Amino acid sequence: MKLSRKVGKLVSREGYRRAWRRAQRSIFRLPFGPVMAGVDEKRLREIEKRHAGEKYADVDHWMRVNRERVQDLKLHRGRPQRVLDLGCGGGYFLFILKRFNHSVLGLDVDRVPLFSELLEVFGVARVVFEIKPFEPLPNLRQQFDWITAFSIGFDRSCDNVRWGVQEWDFLLRDLQRQLAPGGKIYLAVNPLPNGEYLTPEVRDFFASRGADVERERIFFRNGLRG
Ligand SMILES: C[S@@+](CC[C@H](N)C(=O)[O-])C[C@H]1O[C@@H](n2cnc3c(N)ncnc32)[C@H](O)[C@@H]1O
Repeated sequence: MKLSRKVGKLVSREGYRRAWRRAQRSIFRLPFGPVMAGVDEKRLREIEKRHAGEKYADVDHWMRVNRERVQDLKLHRGRPQRVLDLGCGGGYFLFILKRFNHSVLGLDVDRVPLFSELLEVFGVARVVFEIKPFEPLPNLRQQFDWITAFSIGFDRSCDNVRWGVQEWDFLLRDLQRQLAPGGKIYLAVNPLPNGEYLTPEVRDFFASRGADVERERIFFRNGLRG
């Protein structure tokens, strides 16, 4: 098949998936009223004002972004799950999940005061830990049905070189240890300098371990293979 036709097919498949996600979101709505009920809105707005201009300070915007994440993973529709979010930031995603009776835990470094303040208002627990290549995660003393990581920032060395297959292989094997049988892993990476999300080697590696890879999204919906 000609390259232009292959690319065309790929683009239309991605376009179709995006449209399907949008349709699902409008069918299975997730209204904010019940999500925000009981939150200390006054404190939240005070934090927002004090940190104005910081990337994650616009509460309404990040609530909307994370509502879409919850909807796209259908986590507002099923039974309660145990969810670990790596690089949880201010905990927007986990906060919404808590409203659906999921049991949640974040993991992140402790460098951004805004994140600590948001986590406190949201009542989201965080393990403070820095993910490093070839170093296992701490023992979290439980297994998880879902392990997620959005807008990943831990996959690069200090000189900003992105992880290759070996670093990812180590992390995935380690995550498998923390994953309950039948558990799922969902990762979303940031773009590389060339605008792509993954190198072909890393993309093939994820696929070989059973992931469905779509742009920045890497979804092991049936656990890890191999
Ligand atoms: C771009 S932010 C994304 C935050 C959140 N996941 C979201 O999408 O809203 C990246 C997050 O990863 C965390 N992070 C970066 N490097 C990390 C590391 N080596 N170990 C743990 N967390 C890390 C940052 O502190 C930050 O919270």
